[in-house]
This record gives sequence, C-alpha cells and structure tokens, in this order.
Amino acid sequence: MREFAPFFNGLEMKPRDLAVKQALLRKLKSREAVIGIVGMGYVGLPLALRYAEVGYAVVGFDVDRSKVDALNDGRSYIEHIEASTVKEARTKKFEATMDFERASRADALIICVPTPLNRYREPDLSFVVGTAESLVPHLRGGQVVSLESTTYPGTTDEELKPRIESRGLVIGSDVFLCFSPEREDPGNPEYVTRTIPKVCGGSTPDCLEVGVALYEQVIDKVVPVSSTRVAEMTKLLENIHRAVNIGLVNEMKIICDRMGIDVHEVIRAAATKPFGFVPYWPGPGLGGHCIPIDPFYLTWKAREYGLHTRFIELAGEVNRNMPEWVVGKVMEALNERGKALKGSRCLILGIAYKKNVDDMRESPAVELMEILVRRGASVEYSDPHVPVFPKMREHKFDLRSVSLSPERVASYDVVLVATNHDAFDYEMVKRSAKLIVDTRGVYLQQTPNVVKA
Ligand SMILES: NC(=O)c1ccc[n+]([C@@H]2O[C@H](COP(=O)([O-])OP(=O)(O)OC[C@H]3O[C@@H](n4cnc5c(N)ncnc54)[C@H](O)[C@@H]3O)[C@@H](O)[C@H]2O)c1
Repeated sequence: MREFAPFFNGLEMKPRDLAVKQALLRKLKSREAVIGIVGMGYVGLPLALRYAEVGYAVVGFDVDRSKVDALNDGRSYIEHIEASTVKEARTKKFEATMDFERASRADALIICVPTPLNRYREPDLSFVVGTAESLVPHLRGGQVVSLESTTYPGTTDEELKPRIESRGLVIGSDVFLCFSPEREDPGNPEYVTRTIPKVCGGSTPDCLEVGVALYEQVIDKVVPVSSTRVAEMTKLLENIHRAVNIGLVNEMKIICDRMGIDVHEVIRAAATKPFGFVPYWPGPGLGGHCIPIDPFYLTWKAREYGLHTRFIELAGEVNRNMPEWVVGKVMEALNERGKALKGSRCLILGIAYKKNVDDMRESPAVELMEILVRRGASVEYSDPHVPVFPKMREHKFDLRSVSLSPERVASYDVVLVATNHDAFDYEMVKRSAKLIVDTRGVYLQQTPNVVKA
C-alpha cells in the first residue's frame, strides 16, 4: 500500500481490512485465485486465454449461448484467435458459462462488455449496468472487480461503486474496485495481450494495489495511475488522439485531391522525419468498435461540465462525411468514362473495418455500399476474411464474398478498394479492372485506370 499511497493523500486502513486484502493478494500472486471474465468478445477472450495460459482457473461469463458452447467445445469465433489456443486453455482450467451465480466463487471479476452509443449518439451503458446487476447478488468480501470497457470518466465510481456498496460491501476494504482500459489491437502481429502495457486506476490506494497485482501476473508492464477517472480518461485520450488525427489527414486528403497531390505520398515523405511527426492514414471513413464511438462518450460527459468538445465534433464531422466524398469520386470517375453511377456494377474490395481482420463493426465499407445502392448502382464484395455478409443491427445485404479472377474483376464497371487486406492480388486487379477507386493508397504509381479517393 505504501507504494500507492502518494496518489491518495495517505488514506490508512483498519487492521481487519488488511487481512482481507492480504489474503486476496496472496491468492493472486500464487495463482490460486479464480479469475472471472465477463464478456467473451474481442477483449475478454484473449485476456481469459492469457490467464489460463499461466495457470489460473478462469471462468468466462457471457450472455450469448453460442459463444459459451463454442468455447467449451474448444472452438474459436474470432479469426485471429486459433481454436488450438482455446482447446489448450480447455485442457487447463478454463471454462465458459452463462451462470452468473458462479461469480461468487471468483476472486477477480473483470468486466469486458460493449459500450456502444444509442441512436442519439449518447453513451449506452446498459451492458455495463446489466452486468453489474447480474454480478452484484453474487459478490462477497475479498474480491477485486475491474472494469475494462471504454467509457467516460466517472463511470466506475458513479455506476459500479454504488451498486456494489448497495450489498453492504465497502469498496477498498471488502471489495477492491478498479478501472483498467483495454488496448487490444486485433490483427496486429507485433503485440499480444502480455506485451501491451496496461494502465490501472483504483478507487482507493488498496484497490489500486490489488488491481496492479491482478494484472502484473499476466502483463509485462502495468502502469498505475491515481484514480479510476484518470484511467478512464487515458483510454479516451488515446482514442480521441487517433480520431482527431485521422480527421486531419482526411481533410488533408480532400485538399490534396483538389490540388492534384497524392496525400499518401505526402504522408510517406513526412514520416521520414525522425521526430515530432506520427503518420496517420486517410481512408473511406472511420470504422471499428472504438474510434467512431468512444470520443462521443467524452462529448456527452463534458456537457455536464458546461463544455463543448470542439476538436472531437469537428473530427467526427470530417470523418463522417468521407463515405459521401468517396462516392462522389466514384461518380466523377465513371462520368469521365461516359458512365453514370446508376446502373453501374461495383465491386467493393474489403469490407472489414480495417486490414487483415474479420471485424465488421462500424465498417465504412458498409456505408459506401448503402450509398452506392441508394444511387442506383449494384454492389458485390470480395473479402477473404468475411465470407458471408454478417447479420448487422442496422444493415442488411444478402451477399457472399466473390472470389477474384481476371475475368470477374474485368466484368465490373468499378472496383472500389475500401479495405486493404494483404490477401488481395492488387497487381491482378490493376491489370484486369476497367476502373479502380483506391481509398487506401495501395497503388503508389499513377495509372490510367486508378483514381485515388
Ligand atoms: N475490440 C477492440 O479492439 C477493443 C479495444 C479496446 C477497447 N475495447 C472496449 O472493450 C469493450 C468490449 O469490446 P469487445 O470488442 O470485446 O466487444 P464484443 O462485442 O466483441 O464482446 C462483448 C461480449 O460481451 C457479451 N455481453 C454483452 N452483455 C453481457 C452481459 N450483460 N453479461 C455478460 N456478457 C455480456 C457479448 O455477448 C459479447 O460476447 C468495449 O467497451 C470496447 O470499447 C475494444
């Protein structure tokens, strides 16, 4: 506790509390603790597998029966997580369940459930609150609860703490409460859960001490911060930093296009500066669970303080307009070739939200497809990571990925590169396509049938 006390103006503990904390720390450090992870998605599953790998008993909680069954059968439903890793974990002490009563046997409960926006683009905390309400009846003294879902500063202390305390459990002496933001980067081969440093903030110094001990067992570097609110804001800063910089390069792209300059060439040149410049790449719009959504958690919370988040709104506006701008470029390019968009056949290359993953959440490719269809074009897509267009809450396409051959590529009026997966044969596409509209800068050289957008 001494180590973390400077953050908290020297709060001291009563002797009884010390015993609860010491027992939990001992269990965590000896790996006898049972780790419960709630939400077996892109964030929760890799973390569960990591705890299982080092020998903990791990219980994965989820409300989706198909996921629970798949995991217990040793199958994976996430492309970059091998079934063999799940099988291996099952031979150790990992299992999945829908039975929240089992939370009482866990020593740690780590919450990794979705935090989307509602239809008014306001934070939808229903999954976090729903999870808290499922867990609270089964909580007991001597547990640590850590929230990982991205959210606005104050969520842990305003939403979780009172619910836990409603059971008569005292935060910081009975139950230890933390926020530790997830930093998964699916599809990035350079980092795995263990090697991505993890920020952790606690509600009290003892909460922080226990939180650090929880994560130190499986993550190489844990970065303690002074409060849950600092940890919550850290994650938002990271994502807002990306959203704003992507907004900036998207605006630069529009300016460069008007001036006849290739923005990708400009960014590549600027990136040779060894200090003070970080390259961000423009695209057809923002995608994924995080960048299009998380900044608006802060926008919403800032209003409570009478503040207006101007950078966030501006970046959001620029980024949201990109699909329309790209379709404008498609129309222009077809027009120059004597064709209208209406009645044209379009092939979308890549529909996942970023390269080399199967994740479709908030993918701008889907919006491109919708605009194209609305304007009278017909669309098909090719994406080796997404063989069938998935069920999505707000979008419906009854399509399967087409396989690419020179004849097939030549049969479309336009090929729109929306996501630059490594698996595509870009040379073949260039040789065969009548017209390519490239939103990702995959074609470096100027070529008559390639238009950059
Ligand atoms: N995917 C990423 O790369 C990433 C990166 C950083 C942070 N995050 C954040 O992590 C959080 C989780 O994201 P994700 O990508 O893992 O989402 P996900 O949709 O892949 O997984 C969430 C899981 O939670 C389950 N779930 C929903 N409600 C539940 C409940 N009440 N009880 C138990 N399980 C429930 C769902 O069935 C699903 O399996 C979000 O806040 C997200 O912003 C995600």
